[in-house]
Amino acid sequence: MKEHDLTRRQFIVAASASSLAAVASTTLPACADVTPKAGKLAILGGEPIRKNKSWPDWPHIDDQIVDAVVKTTKSGIWCRIQSATGTVPTFEKEYAKLMGARFCVATGSGTQSLHTCVEALGIGAGDEVITSPYTDPGTIAGILSARALPVLADLDPASYQLDPDEVEKRITENTRAIMPVHMMGQPCHLERIMAIARKHNLAVIEDAAQAHLSEYQGKKLGTIAPLGCFSFQTSKTIACGEGGAIIGDDEELMDKCYTVHNHGTSRRGRTEVIGPKYRMNEFEAAVLLPQLAGAQERFRRRNENAAYLTARLKGCPGIVPQKLYPGTASGSFYLYAMSYKKEHFNNVDRGRFLKAVAAEGVSLSPYIERGLHREPWVDHIVKTKAYQKTFSARRLQQFREEMSCPKCDQVCEEMAMLWASGPLLGTQADMADIADAILKVYENRDKLSAI
Ligand SMILES: Cc1ncc(COP(=O)(O)O)c(C=O)c1O
Repeated sequence: MKEHDLTRRQFIVAASASSLAAVASTTLPACADVTPKAGKLAILGGEPIRKNKSWPDWPHIDDQIVDAVVKTTKSGIWCRIQSATGTVPTFEKEYAKLMGARFCVATGSGTQSLHTCVEALGIGAGDEVITSPYTDPGTIAGILSARALPVLADLDPASYQLDPDEVEKRITENTRAIMPVHMMGQPCHLERIMAIARKHNLAVIEDAAQAHLSEYQGKKLGTIAPLGCFSFQTSKTIACGEGGAIIGDDEELMDKCYTVHNHGTSRRGRTEVIGPKYRMNEFEAAVLLPQLAGAQERFRRRNENAAYLTARLKGCPGIVPQKLYPGTASGSFYLYAMSYKKEHFNNVDRGRFLKAVAAEGVSLSPYIERGLHREPWVDHIVKTKAYQKTFSARRLQQFREEMSCPKCDQVCEEMAMLWASGPLLGTQADMADIADAILKVYENRDKLSAI
């Protein structure tokens, strides 16, 4: 299931990996020493770990947001070009400040932000952009919309992130950019990816759609490459239904992004380049602006809870939280991701494990069912005129043949994650329920084949 399909009720549970430092400083017994209220599995008639308790609601709603929307409605300023001091320009300034970037251009979605960056860099027909197969379709939509070729590189199966070696293998004479994705809101191996980009003279667009406020090597994600993109779709940790933002420090490049996203019309009022109309509207910014004040505190809380969870699960061989790269200081904890290692659960398939944990009152998700390399767009574009005209038949055939990402397939099979935006704002007792439910099922793994 994709997050776009989620209803509010489905954001029931979550948690996540955590700040390395916080994990290291949290002292809790490892899995083997913990005696989670074992007992009989709820799915087999036992008492569930968690009963009749709710999780913190998501999206975050408060009176300030409601007031801001009412104020915008009454003002009649509904479109960003009506006022230089409206909610969108104000949000852009505040978001840039919060992220430590010089400039921000707000858009209607993360996908729109990515596409805007691709166009602003002059990437189009005949060009290739290397990205991840394990991501939201919006990542490649931003490349395809420019009629460039998304080339998918395989993953590090422990971090669910692009493997830099695989990225380097996929570079061709047509490659113009790398679009690394910070999956689950945790940093990918950006140090190595930036080095590869420098070596081959490639642009980098950070897909930080899931990674609000995450920090890596002393900087916020989205500010390391010249361009970083965010999503404010409902499920994200800063949200307005549909919305997006581009941040960057290069004034000229960010000005190009503004022009592209404004149907090719610049701040000087001239229609200069090819561009869609991707402007954020004033209502979306009215929902976002009041969230910024508390965003850092909610981020801190998620990281603290994630550290607790990771410490509780440490040492449990069947459940392995997302691997974090050196330099990771914190993550958005939009998702708390784990790998289910069935060889440590008597080879019981993941579906049974998820059902048993759900019966304990904790809902985990398999997340992305198939990597993008297994979706029909691959066959579609090799038969599409625009691609047939701009790439040689040999290149398209090679592109099709190389669409194999076995590590991504492994990640899709093993993933068990929590939607974390709301639930990781819970109490430590809530976190204990999550860990207890998982560990109880682990303790009872010999009973899982009976369900
Ligand atoms: C990694 C990633 N990239 C891109 C997107 C696209 O963002 P949006 O849904 O706002 O268009 C998403 C959305 O979930 C995402 O998770």
